[in-house]
Amino acid sequence: MTRPLYLALPLLFATLSPAAGDETSERIEAILSKLTLEEKLGQLRLVDGHAGGGWKPQHMALAQAGVLGGTFNVRGTGPTSEMQRAALATRHKIPLVFAFDVIHGYRTIFPVPLGEAASWDPDLAERCTAVAAKEARSANVSWTFAPVADIARDPRWGRIVEGSGEDPVLSSAFTAARVRGFQGKDISAPDRMMACLKHFAGSGEAEGGRDYNFADVSVRALRETHFPPFLAGLKAGAGSIMPSFSAIDGVPATSNPWLLQDVLRKEWGFGGVVVSDYDAVGQLVNHRVSPDWPEAGQIALRAGLDMEIWGSCLMQAEGLLDDAADLKLVDDAVRRVLRMKFQLGLFDKPFGDAAREKEAILHPDHLKLAREAAAKSCVLLKNSDNTLPIPPTAKKIAIVGPMADDKATLLGSWTGDGRPEDAVTLVEAVRQRLGDTGTVIHSSAGSTSGFSFRKPSDGVEAAKDADYVLVVIGEAGDMTGEATSKSSLDLPQPQLDLVQKVHSLGKPYAVILMTGRPLTATWLAETCPAILLSWYGGTMGGPGIADVLFGDVNPSGKLPVTFPRSVGQIPLTYNSTPTSRPLVESDKWTSKYTDIKNSPLWAFGHGLSYTSFQISPPLLETRTVPRDGSVRFQVSVTNQGERDGDEVVQVYIRDEVSLVTRPVKELKAFKRVSVPAGKNVVVDFEIPAKDLGCWTPQGKYLIEPGTFTLMTGGNSTQVKTASFSLE
Ligand code: BGC
Repeated sequence: MTRPLYLALPLLFATLSPAAGDETSERIEAILSKLTLEEKLGQLRLVDGHAGGGWKPQHMALAQAGVLGGTFNVRGTGPTSEMQRAALATRHKIPLVFAFDVIHGYRTIFPVPLGEAASWDPDLAERCTAVAAKEARSANVSWTFAPVADIARDPRWGRIVEGSGEDPVLSSAFTAARVRGFQGKDISAPDRMMACLKHFAGSGEAEGGRDYNFADVSVRALRETHFPPFLAGLKAGAGSIMPSFSAIDGVPATSNPWLLQDVLRKEWGFGGVVVSDYDAVGQLVNHRVSPDWPEAGQIALRAGLDMEIWGSCLMQAEGLLDDAADLKLVDDAVRRVLRMKFQLGLFDKPFGDAAREKEAILHPDHLKLAREAAAKSCVLLKNSDNTLPIPPTAKKIAIVGPMADDKATLLGSWTGDGRPEDAVTLVEAVRQRLGDTGTVIHSSAGSTSGFSFRKPSDGVEAAKDADYVLVVIGEAGDMTGEATSKSSLDLPQPQLDLVQKVHSLGKPYAVILMTGRPLTATWLAETCPAILLSWYGGTMGGPGIADVLFGDVNPSGKLPVTFPRSVGQIPLTYNSTPTSRPLVESDKWTSKYTDIKNSPLWAFGHGLSYTSFQISPPLLETRTVPRDGSVRFQVSVTNQGERDGDEVVQVYIRDEVSLVTRPVKELKAFKRVSVPAGKNVVVDFEIPAKDLGCWTPQGKYLIEPGTFTLMTGGNSTQVKTASFSLE
């Protein structure tokens, strides 16, 4: 029998790591040698400005005293210049760094990250983040706490909206693309900024889907599922990383030497900045691994943290840091922070440029891209009898439902500097589009803000007159994101009542679902003829959705996350592991529920089009692949309909027999292709055999010989197969 192949994976990231002996190092050492311990600790501190973008007087005082590394939330040429002038007037003249959560746009807001991932188009994500970086940098913000590389498998967890869904390969592709978009080739450029991968790692496994909760995640799950997007982001050159709020094996990530030193620094060779999450150092006291804040600062520093945001535990630890080893840790952390400031070009160009800011913000090209992204993020979940697109004969269109004209909801959560007033709603977009050629009926009742739903629109009366009805429902934008965990994923009853009323009118209608998380929309799926999932589409959400509804854009989005039928099924993902008794419907003694099917409502990778595609099985170049080689194959995609369209070819793999249980199916590759109506396109794939390994219980990466099944399809359930063996 062929022997297994163990691979050591030393991954060294040269990109932003310190290179000894260079000119910057000399400048860093020169500065460091003049700093007091207090000034050094000051460099490790990042304080929170006003939500509106201004600075707080107590923080200005820290800047003037030369004991502040930077701020987050302070933004715009005006406020940042005022603080920067204070910092540059100090003895050491070290510029401040201005950070901000630029998650899916700065002022021009793009679809929420989970929605953007539904495009399965990482290049789109790169372009959107490049625009976000351009706008942010013009406002003198040079560091973003993004992208979110968290894998999320529990839709009760509101933060599922911030990442790219449940799959490591899809999420890795998006994380890397976003890093490239933010950073470009040179983060000192006037239109780029430094990225920060977060939240390292496993916080998507928070127990019960409750935010900030303990995450009981095994090392195998970390290595196979949660680490890959972080690794991909680091390989793309991300300059910083943020540990999560949760604990791994009982040790909070913020104070976890295994995570921050053994894995991150030693195994992966990361040389950039490790910045805490909001007050996460102080919260070591809540975790009960530290009696007080000063000791929390010392513990975090010793574990491998460089910088603290919001709190001042590192500063308060000053009295405890008396041995040479601690002082060296402080010096090394300051070196990394200073290097980041040099790399960002802050020593040469510390100020913003008001003219550049004015020009960049909401530039027409940015809005155009936002519209494209909003349309590409839409997922057509159901479309019986070609209910969509809206036929050209429909001239009187009623738009009802609480989200039809809700600007704030379009922006979703983490709205950067985005303003609801910039957003264009579906009602506005359809009005604009129809102009004098048609009529839009809309009742303004039923807006949704906050967590309480007012009675939805009684525009149903008016809709009686319409040719076609659009019902816009879902969750308000502030119902997903941080601190928005939920125990139920059902749509509010008044919204379902509204759909029922529209349904009884007997007119053609479609439901537009705005959400940042999977919902248990079983009744909707059974009842409505057409459902378009638009997520939160951003500033240009309305026009983007309208482009799809009217058929200018053929929908091509695919779910980056499974939609369960019921919360009781959670966690439910497509890439589960085999069980001792796989499901047999007729056999009670197999793995299943007695009151609900095992299958999801909508599977990972699902998404329809206005045309239909035929995808071939994988056409393998050879059925025997050496373990230092690659699996090469082609897939033929035929557009069988009458409209041009894009299809996402998804490639899954199954290791038939292995040392440890492997997923029943794992996404290994995907490609989005445009196929003209009636035509055929052949797509080439190459999967390196080294990507087919697994982690042993001893923590080694193993590439096993044996048979693998390769699957191709337009979603994770309807696939065609071929097999090959690895030798
Ligand atoms: C969040 C982070 C965010 C930070 C700063 C925290 O509460 O977990 O994702 O970057 O706040 O706003």
